[in-house]
Amino acid sequence: MTESLDGVFYITTPIYYVNDRPHIGHGYCTVLADVLARYHRLFGQETYFLTGTDEHGQKVQEAAAKRGMTPQEHADDMHRHFKDLWPTLHVSNDDFIRTTEPRHTRVVQKALQQLWDKGLIYRGEYEGFYSPRVEKFFTEDELVDGKCPETGGEVNRIQEANYFFKMSLYQDALIKHINENPDFIRPESRKNEVLGFLKKPLQDLCISRPKARLSWGIPLPFDPDFVTYVWFDALLNYCSAIGLYSDDQRFEKLWSGAHHLIGKDILTTHSVYWTTMLMALEIPLPKHIIAHGWWLIDRSKMSKSLGNVVDPMAMKDKYGVDSLRYFLMREMVVGLDADFSEEAFLKRHNFDLANDLGNLANRLAKFIARSMGGVVPTLAEGTEFDDDLRQMAQELPAKVRQLILELKVDAAVEAIMNLVRRVNRYVAETEPFKVIKTDPAKAGTAVYNALEGLRFALNLLSPVMPGKCDELLGAIGAPPVVSRLEDLKWGDLKAGAAVNLPEAPFPRHELPKVEEKPKKPETPLIKFDHFAAVDLRVGTVLTATAVEKSDKLLLLSVDLGEPEPRTVVSGIAKEYSPEAIVGKQFVFVVNLEPRKIFGILSEAMVLAGHDDDGLAIFSPLRPLPAGAKIS
Ligand code: MSP
Repeated sequence: MTESLDGVFYITTPIYYVNDRPHIGHGYCTVLADVLARYHRLFGQETYFLTGTDEHGQKVQEAAAKRGMTPQEHADDMHRHFKDLWPTLHVSNDDFIRTTEPRHTRVVQKALQQLWDKGLIYRGEYEGFYSPRVEKFFTEDELVDGKCPETGGEVNRIQEANYFFKMSLYQDALIKHINENPDFIRPESRKNEVLGFLKKPLQDLCISRPKARLSWGIPLPFDPDFVTYVWFDALLNYCSAIGLYSDDQRFEKLWSGAHHLIGKDILTTHSVYWTTMLMALEIPLPKHIIAHGWWLIDRSKMSKSLGNVVDPMAMKDKYGVDSLRYFLMREMVVGLDADFSEEAFLKRHNFDLANDLGNLANRLAKFIARSMGGVVPTLAEGTEFDDDLRQMAQELPAKVRQLILELKVDAAVEAIMNLVRRVNRYVAETEPFKVIKTDPAKAGTAVYNALEGLRFALNLLSPVMPGKCDELLGAIGAPPVVSRLEDLKWGDLKAGAAVNLPEAPFPRHELPKVEEKPKKPETPLIKFDHFAAVDLRVGTVLTATAVEKSDKLLLLSVDLGEPEPRTVVSGIAKEYSPEAIVGKQFVFVVNLEPRKIFGILSEAMVLAGHDDDGLAIFSPLRPLPAGAKIS
């Protein structure tokens, strides 16, 4: 299902919680919104792009408390991590909304008052289970093994007076809307998920929190003892940012083209809470809700506790913003999950960008500098080649537009890269590097056509890699990216324009080295008797003291279950202080011939493992009687 290019294209991202720093999932969603916005601008559509931060609620209040700050101070500080990141990722948002701004809080209070006046909000008794991680309430039936059904995290039982929005009134109207507008929720699998959810009777939505429990929120206009539930507050950002209740004309214009881009985990809040809120407020529903998948690491979700969160800033700093954007757009099929790995990232970078695109530009530019006076050659009449390159390039804009409207961003990128590969083949077929010696005019034509093919590809790829495409267009003597795709015309490259590409645009990167597992030590096999000949026992350290004039040795007195403790001199002083080992149990070899060390007779040997950081001694997992045999 595709959509038309009529009217405005208003694209939003979720507003991100300021309880944490941005990660690659946030980066992906915002870059995808940016890429869509840039394509729509290129298609000639009026476009408006909004992102922002979600700054109220329990999670934020708790994060602030941990830092010893007020929630407002915390939000003022944390929102910058998002706001400042976007320009560095070449994100071209028109606005950035914070839910603590008066332009937003005013709208939330007005919307609440309206619903209250219309009798669509009522006071009731709430009983349920609250999951702080997702800021959502669940009924007992919805819990999985007594835990949050979405995160598996802890839930708190809560019973209190609260305010409710009559969400249940809108169940039938919502089902009807989804059925009548089959591409309202995209992709289709997500639509079916929502319809599945709507098979159960819809409950009313608890939209308040008593201030006594949670003070960080927008006060309810009709009861100052309560603040607004963070999702009710946050969802309204899409409207408050564009003039709801303050600039009707602007609001109506932009809202008519609203597209909400979200992650699949916040599908219900958008497709059910938000849509029913809008129905109650008598505001038309957005055009589309588009749910993308998750970036996974080794097939599991990124999480702080697993320590596998990818920092978009670090990736950008290491490999460049254009490569990062390219990878995110090329690797993920919108709607499905994808695995993030540095290896996959570098493969794309090396194969697609360094080899196919970068090499092409580099080879052409070097050749032009060497053999064509450093300028775009002329397309000489009578020297055309019988090829389909020009046709392929000219057909590509319509194809890319179609794929983007179908949200097949990965396929659009691949179609453009196919043109780049076609240009590479064209150069191989026409051999301008050889032909120049015998027929310079013909070589000029071949290079001109190759540059034109490359120029088409760069223009079409510019929404994905705005920085590099712009830079490369300048380097090959081409005009800047067209402002509308319909202005992209074959032959607009001017002969005589200076070509100057000082260095390879996408240097190759080495793939990260996979650490080789050390090989098994090759020692000769022994018979069991040989092993059994070593008498290993558990010993309890009774006393430990440093050995004078040695920084390595400790003098131990060890209970090995014998009438008298044994004296053991052990080289463990660098790793262990005497206090750390007194009273502990370790493994000792007790039938080694006694040996004098630093003049002291050592009567056993403690077992230890070694690595670059030194040694570690072995201890049983539970206490054993001193002298217990080890076998
Ligand atoms: N504040 C709410 C959204 C309110 S919108 C009115 C929220 N914030 S969030 O910061 O937790 O998440 C924002 C978005 O990031 C969600 O769309 C979520 O799907 C996305 N991602 C979080 N982890 C992700 C991945 N690993 N991969 C891709 N996107 C993921 O929810």
